[in-house]
Amino acid sequence: MLQLKNLTIESPLFLAPMAGLTHTVLRRLIMAYGGMGLLSTEMLAATKLPRENAEISPYLVRSAVETPLSYQLLVCRVEDLGPAINALHGLRADAVDLNLGCPAPFVRRMGAGSKLMESPAKVRALVAEARRLTSLPLTAKIRLGEDLDEAKLRDFCLMLEGEGLDLLTVHARLRGEAFCRKPRWQWVGKVKEWLTIPVVANGGIFSVDDARKCLAESGADGLMIGRAAAIKPWLFAEIAREVYGASIPAPEVRLPVLYLEFVRILIESFLPERQLGRLKEFTHYFAKNYAFGHQLASAVQPSHSVAEARERALAFFVRNDPDNVPVGVDD
Ligand SMILES: Cc1cc2nc3c(=O)[nH]c(=O)nc-3n(C[C@H](O)[C@H](O)[C@H](O)COP(=O)(O)O)c2cc1C
Repeated sequence: MLQLKNLTIESPLFLAPMAGLTHTVLRRLIMAYGGMGLLSTEMLAATKLPRENAEISPYLVRSAVETPLSYQLLVCRVEDLGPAINALHGLRADAVDLNLGCPAPFVRRMGAGSKLMESPAKVRALVAEARRLTSLPLTAKIRLGEDLDEAKLRDFCLMLEGEGLDLLTVHARLRGEAFCRKPRWQWVGKVKEWLTIPVVANGGIFSVDDARKCLAESGADGLMIGRAAAIKPWLFAEIAREVYGASIPAPEVRLPVLYLEFVRILIESFLPERQLGRLKEFTHYFAKNYAFGHQLASAVQPSHSVAEARERALAFFVRNDPDNVPVGVDD
């Protein structure tokens, strides 16, 4: 259990913010299995957030079961924080996260994400202002930096803590390191030693075994899981049970049922033009559950509608996983 300000986080497991993936649909599926500590939105541009319509915006649609939910801000100017945090208060955010680690070129060109780690003074001002503006738990997510520089990373992390951050998540890779590179979980352990606030480890956790190894190497206070959440939305429940001893039922997984449920909630939650891209993005990850999953991903990819994508996915399930296809699903 972690206590951040007034927020009690029952399970030290965190959903990683992921653009195009960590929307209401995936979050609802994850919550159905249990084990989750703190959910997250994808990164939300602070400049656009105040104008988003929470009733229909795919970034903001949220159901009652998605609690607690942290909202991640992509922000690089202090003056954008006021309106953005105001909007988050209106949305009943449970926590506010600052994106300090995104390496995407379009984000860096804005001077945001991982670019900010090169300007500690700017980050100090952002964190100080965010702290002044909200009494919600304030967290940040970083990578290890441009290169392995212990002193620089230490100063940066201590500065964040000094400005009133409540929790820090460390994606255990350098800014330029690809996902295929093994994460440097020991470096999360270094950060953990420097700070007194909780430190959460992120990167490369795909199984209960990975979770155990990451905890052993990092000594982290919690684990944040990204891509594996879209592959196995039940992984949080497994880790909560097997690593943290939570008394929740063992997840019962029927992949075709889960996929069809994703499609159902997708249609229920988003405007038609916001559905197909998100289904394709999810399918790219979910397909990894099957030995010939690339066939599922490439069958769904060229679809022109959600109905077509669903039909193509169903044909794959009938061929590859017939025992788990619900009876009468095509009626
Ligand atoms: C499709 C995708 C979108 C992502 N979007 C974000 C984002 O919006 N904000 C962020 O801080 N990190 C983002 N990330 C990085 C993840 O939060 C996480 O740090 C990374 O995937 C490593 O964790 P994992 O190995 O568990 O996936 C994204 C990653 C992926 C794969």
